[in-house]
Amino acid sequence: LAVAKGILPVDVRRGSGTPLHVQLATQVRDLVSRGALEPGARLPSNRALATDLGVARAVVEQAYDQLLAEGWLVARRGSGTFVAEMGPLPRPDATGHAAVSEPARDLIRLSTGTPWLDPRHQPGWRRAWRDVAVATPPRDYPDPAGLRPLREEVARYVSRTRGLACTADEVMITGGTTHGMELALAALGTGAVAVEDPGYRAAVAAVHHAGRALVDVPVDGQGLDVAALSACPDQLAAVYATPAHQHPLGLTLSAPRRVALLAEARRRGAVVLEDDYDSEFRYDVAPLPALAALDRTHVVYLGTASKILLPGLRLGWLVAEASLVDRIAARREARHDHPPWPAQRALLTLLHEGHLDKAVRSARRVYTARGEQVTTRLGRYGTVSAPVAGMYLTLLTEPLAARAVADDARRAGFEVPLLADLARSDTRTGLVIGFGGVCDAELSRALDVLEAALRRHT
Ligand SMILES: Cc1ncc(COP(=O)(O)O)c(C=O)c1O
Repeated sequence: LAVAKGILPVDVRRGSGTPLHVQLATQVRDLVSRGALEPGARLPSNRALATDLGVARAVVEQAYDQLLAEGWLVARRGSGTFVAEMGPLPRPDATGHAAVSEPARDLIRLSTGTPWLDPRHQPGWRRAWRDVAVATPPRDYPDPAGLRPLREEVARYVSRTRGLACTADEVMITGGTTHGMELALAALGTGAVAVEDPGYRAAVAAVHHAGRALVDVPVDGQGLDVAALSACPDQLAAVYATPAHQHPLGLTLSAPRRVALLAEARRRGAVVLEDDYDSEFRYDVAPLPALAALDRTHVVYLGTASKILLPGLRLGWLVAEASLVDRIAARREARHDHPPWPAQRALLTLLHEGHLDKAVRSARRVYTARGEQVTTRLGRYGTVSAPVAGMYLTLLTEPLAARAVADDARRAGFEVPLLADLARSDTRTGLVIGFGGVCDAELSRALDVLEAALRRHT
């Protein structure tokens, strides 16, 4: 990095809450550790840098002293302050320019997974956390399968809303769908895992993380293509599927396909990992009962609080045969992988007091209206795939158009996921437009931007 006239590409801001010398030290450390300031390079004098930044010399002195103490800088008596000699450091970016960090532009993300939260439900949240504050926490590690009363509440919830009659013994509290999937995969016998393509990226990552071979299964108009699955030669341990609302094409697995999928799982001694992430949000009719309601032995049902409450809660539930729940619990116990007590205790109140039902009802109304808005505004520029449920819709378009529209949207401040990024072998392309994590005004602006871009590129 050329240090023109001894000046550094740093900037400090008053009133940011971080002392000026700490801001400066952080930025200089960053320049050195990224290799943007080379070993041996001379730093500007205290006076020059202080004048350039408009701060007192003491600020620069304190920042340099800190980095001298940490060993990033060395002082040579009479000649100044230098970057210490050290081993190879990461180089600046390939253009040869120093990768001086540009402040990241805040994009509004039309993410597929961020739910809408009804501000009117704040009191419910507060009540739940007050309950946590006054409850007596367990003195020991909590049950690795989850708090008993919460497992009972979840059993009632899935039975009532998903037609999945089960007991608390068949319910385990997890850290969300992906965690539930990892727990199940660690407890299943050997074999590959078949995953819908296009499909959920975190599910793919969970399969890789489990060290298992992954088999892509195509998805057609009826959902996962079971015939393609039966042609697959690999030994299969599991099939990951989203029967209620295929992610990201939005399709519902047809009843004949459900029967065929279960028959295939039985034939192969495999289980279906049923990811039921957002089936509560059907726009039109009640969702089909969970696949697990048809066969408890060959389905591990995975539910999550991420969509109906908050992804940050990191809670979900797994419903499986009690023997599998016990096996998984024993492994969790051995690893101290216990679900955190405060979050479970809060979820218990939220479920018990009907907060969850209220949250689902109001979010469903919002998603139905927004889904219609997206379809009306953008539907003529492509095909909206199965606009029946959830907090996102997929608009199928030509590949070049999809990318060009996403690029235009990014320039206008919106990040829109590409369908191609959720596919491995599948060749369909388009945009996956999430509308849960934005407010009405942001969605309306996003649709203006997307419509204009689609008009230009399709
Ligand atoms: C298909 C699908 N399944 C599950 C989830 C939720 O995962 P988790 O419970 O790990 O937050 C998401 C969230 O975006 C999703 O898109």
